[in-house]
Amino acid sequence: MAIKMQLVLLALSFILPSGLASPSSNGSPEEPIMTLDDDLESSVHIVHYQPEQVHLAFGERTDSEIVVTWSTRSLPPDMSSVVEYGPTETAASDGLRQRATGGATKFVDGGRKHKSQFIHRVTLRQLEPNTSYTYHCGSAAGWSARYQFRTVPSSESDWSPSLAIYGDMGNENAQSLARLQQDTQQGMYDAILHVGDFAYDMNSNDARVGDEFMRQVETIAAYLPYMVVPGNHEEKFNFSNYRARFSMPGGTDNLFYSFDLGPVHFIGISTEVYYFLNYGLKTLVFQYEWLERDLQAANEPAQRAKRPWIVVYGHRPMYCSNENDNDCTHSETLTRVGWPFVHMFGLEPLFYKYGVDVAIWAHEHSYERLWPIYDYQVRNGSLGSPYENPRAPVHLVTGSAGCKEGREPFKGKIPVWSAFHSQDYGYTRLKAHNRTHLYFEQVSDDQNGAIIDSFWLIKNQHGSYEDL
Ligand SMILES: [Fe+2]
Repeated sequence: MAIKMQLVLLALSFILPSGLASPSSNGSPEEPIMTLDDDLESSVHIVHYQPEQVHLAFGERTDSEIVVTWSTRSLPPDMSSVVEYGPTETAASDGLRQRATGGATKFVDGGRKHKSQFIHRVTLRQLEPNTSYTYHCGSAAGWSARYQFRTVPSSESDWSPSLAIYGDMGNENAQSLARLQQDTQQGMYDAILHVGDFAYDMNSNDARVGDEFMRQVETIAAYLPYMVVPGNHEEKFNFSNYRARFSMPGGTDNLFYSFDLGPVHFIGISTEVYYFLNYGLKTLVFQYEWLERDLQAANEPAQRAKRPWIVVYGHRPMYCSNENDNDCTHSETLTRVGWPFVHMFGLEPLFYKYGVDVAIWAHEHSYERLWPIYDYQVRNGSLGSPYENPRAPVHLVTGSAGCKEGREPFKGKIPVWSAFHSQDYGYTRLKAHNRTHLYFEQVSDDQNGAIIDSFWLIKNQHGSYEDL
């Protein structure tokens, strides 16, 4: 495998441009837009120490660590990044008695104005399980408002996490946002999965669109771990806005990572490494090798018994029945079969070999549920109960949260492997009830929150599909 891989990489290096593109080489001309902001910048010195764009993520230890990330235009005079926090129960009387410090990284956007900001990160460690914490972030130069989050009930697997899952939500036409904010304020979720494509685009208008999007989702993300993977809309300047603004675990600039939540092992991947070859091939190879190791570890008998569900999420689907020319409308999707001709790094064989239960995608601005499928073969559990002990992964496409590009239509003739589709704007809810039962439902924002699709995925045993 290693020699074969080297030969392929050598061959590809002759036909593909490699290395990182510089911002200027990849930039497209953008119309200058003069705003009040520009007027002020040109005539008045403004300092900006006030934290904004506050958002959370799970740390390396999902059960006891939360990373708080925020932004300031100016670096505070004492150059500090601080979170003060404490149990909500005593915060009113005792104040925020715990204190954690981190650091700030200067981020310079690749656009023509090279707008800069400081991204602050602080990891809260050794948090108590099942506890509501109140926190604020900032420095002696300015504190954020107070926010709350709740830690996971337990590091064990015997609890039932609830998540909202969606992709393709932009600054403009973020139709599902208000409903997601309401859901969050009602305490419906333990985490969010945003499966790529943010803001449209984060780098647009000298990264102001990214700033405003991060302010929009603060109403969710300052209260819940907001877990993300990159989409094609994050590509500009080698995904620099995406890499800079989030704080996923794993030390891969937010590109791929995994975490455990209740009975589920979640794996987030970048599908974009298969498509933007101008940034080189290394990340694709690293991710593929990491993914196989991660799947192997998740399949260690004791681990799979404790946390039997494996859910993978990434931006571009392997299958879809939409009416456009995206890769998923073709039969040889790059992520599914790997490189043309050599068929290396294909993910579907890995998913099949290591018994991935659910694969969640976005990119198509619609919702689609597939029958259990492998290599275009429907492999239902049985005719009467397709999702009971299925013999292949279940794929969902949920990219309809709302963006300025609008909806994606479907083809007149829907393939036999497609079980349900909808063009309604909305998002997916997952509740992982236990080691044998997952429940999914699709919320339609167009229909005032109506559930337009739901199904139970039931498995008595988990593992490779190769022997089934
Ligand atoms: Fe996309």
